[in-house]
This record gives sequence, structure tokens and C-alpha cells, in this order.
Amino acid sequence: PRKIIIDTDPGQDDAVAILLALGSPEDVEVLGVTAVAGNVPLPLTQKNARIVCELAGKTEVPVYAGCEAPMKRKLVTAEHVHGKTGLDGPVMPDPTMPLTDGHAVDFIIETLRNHPEKSVTLCPLGPLTNIATAFAKAPDIVDRVQEIVMMGGAYFEVGNITPAAEFNIYVDPEAADIVFKSGVPIVVMPLDVTHKALTTAERVEAFRNLGTEPGRMVAEWTDFFERFDKEKYGSAGAPLHDPCVIAYLIQPELFSGRHINVEIETGSELTLGMTVADWWGVTDRPANAMFMGDLDADGFFALLTERIARL
Ligand code: BDR
Ligand code: CA
Repeated sequence: PRKIIIDTDPGQDDAVAILLALGSPEDVEVLGVTAVAGNVPLPLTQKNARIVCELAGKTEVPVYAGCEAPMKRKLVTAEHVHGKTGLDGPVMPDPTMPLTDGHAVDFIIETLRNHPEKSVTLCPLGPLTNIATAFAKAPDIVDRVQEIVMMGGAYFEVGNITPAAEFNIYVDPEAADIVFKSGVPIVVMPLDVTHKALTTAERVEAFRNLGTEPGRMVAEWTDFFERFDKEKYGSAGAPLHDPCVIAYLIQPELFSGRHINVEIETGSELTLGMTVADWWGVTDRPANAMFMGDLDADGFFALLTERIARL
């Protein structure tokens, strides 16, 4: 299995991503879950990460708390999407598993130093603060990363937190800039892909019909998440953004995209956090990211349901 660190700000869709990874031990080995401030503040994201590991029955997975604010800016959160707890929907018990001692950034640094070069993949599902802080603090680890597979950004679908920017990049554009300039191979799941990973009544029923606690939670989380989307876009279904990252590690053929140049806007107030993606190759700037554009939604939900069923 591929060794991964999940860096996350749960978030219902982050939670589903974590469950997908923990239900797929033959494909991915989760070395640790690192929490970052994003959808909700850090005290809630680190708690939610533990709730999810416990729900999966994987209390041995270490969960670390990381950065509580972006590198240079004030934290922007998304309670309007995810609810006050970040994991609104079903009522969940408080976790009993403890946080692991130490800072998430130090865990990322030490893990990369202690494993063979290019054998650990980073999976950011939230703002890139922890990852960029680790790169800035320990530049020697950058070349040791196998790959970054992340959710963030947009091209045709443009923004969801501002007209120009996707939430994860917008919250910490300076961190995103460091990551996209790092030279590490990057695979990006932008809104262009994740807005095609939409639940339907049948797909949610399939989760519920698993008859397990994780299945029921996924059904209720996605129901909650959809309600926000319906109000806003009148659209059918909740977008399962973050699980696309883990699905890619298990079944990359579900996704297609282009290896292109992507730059992060950090200067303009109007377009702050925009992922300026050279989809049509109109510049000679070197490609630095595999920017996905499409997915096989039926295949994605089949995989997700099958793996959640194992928990
Ligand atoms: C991203 O922002 C968060 O609200 C979701 O968890 C996802 O990571 C989508 O823009
Ligand atoms: Ca997220």
C-alpha cells in the first residue's frame, strides 16, 4: 500500500475521504491524520478528525493538531456550508481517543525524514498551511515527498468562496503558492472534478442500506451537505470534493486531466487565491501540476460504497 498523510479540516466531505482511506488498507496506509484550521477552527477540526477515526474503529491512527491560522492572513471559515461543528448532520458522540502529542508540522517533517525518499504521499484536503509551514521549516523534506494529491482550486468552475477562488486555496494563498512552486509532483482535484462527484438519492440510499454506522453517517452527512447546495444552486446532490483525492490513489483511471502550469494569485484583492491554470497551454511556463478535469462518477460512487461497507 501507498503510505500517506491526510492533512484535513473536517468537514463532512473530509470525513468521507478519511473513511474511504481507512476502509482501503490494501491500497493506502494512513501514517497519520494532521488537522488544520479551515472549514472550522482547529479545536473543532482536530476533534472531528478523531471522531471519524473512532467511527472507523481505527483509534490506532495518530491524529495531530497543526496550524490554527493561515501563514499571513486571518482565518476564513465555512460554517455556512458545514454547520457550526464542521460536521453537522447526525449527532455524534465526543471522541474518546486522544490527540497525539506534538505538532502536525513536526510530524510531517519527521515522517518524511524517517521514511525512504519518495515513499510518502501527502494528501491535503484543506488549506495548505501545515504542508507549506513544514516545507518552510525543513526545506530538506521537499525532495523526499513522493507526490502531493490534493483537493483545491478550479478552472472552468471558478470559485466557491469568492467569484474567483476555491475555498482551500483562498484561505491560505501564500501556503498554496509555496506548495505549487515546490517542485513536488502535484495532482489536483479542482472544483471542475469535484462538482461532478455529486450524490443522488440512490447513491445516498446505497450508503444508508449498508446498515452500518459509518454507512449511516455518510448518508446523513451528505444529506446535510446537500441541503446547503440545494439552497444555493438549486442543484441535485452534494459534491464529495475531498474523497476524490483518496479515490485517485486507489483507482486513478477514474480521473482524467492535463499536466499544466498552475500559479496562485496572492496579490490581487479581487482574485486572491485564484488558481491560474494554463489549461490551453497559452504560456511557456513549465507544467507543475496534473490538473484533473473529469471523473467517472458512477465508478467513483461504486468504489466509495464498497470501501465504506468494509468499516
Ligand atoms: C473544499 O472546501 C471545503 O469546504 C471542503 O471540505 C473541500 O475541501 C471545497 O472547496
Ligand atoms: Ca476539506
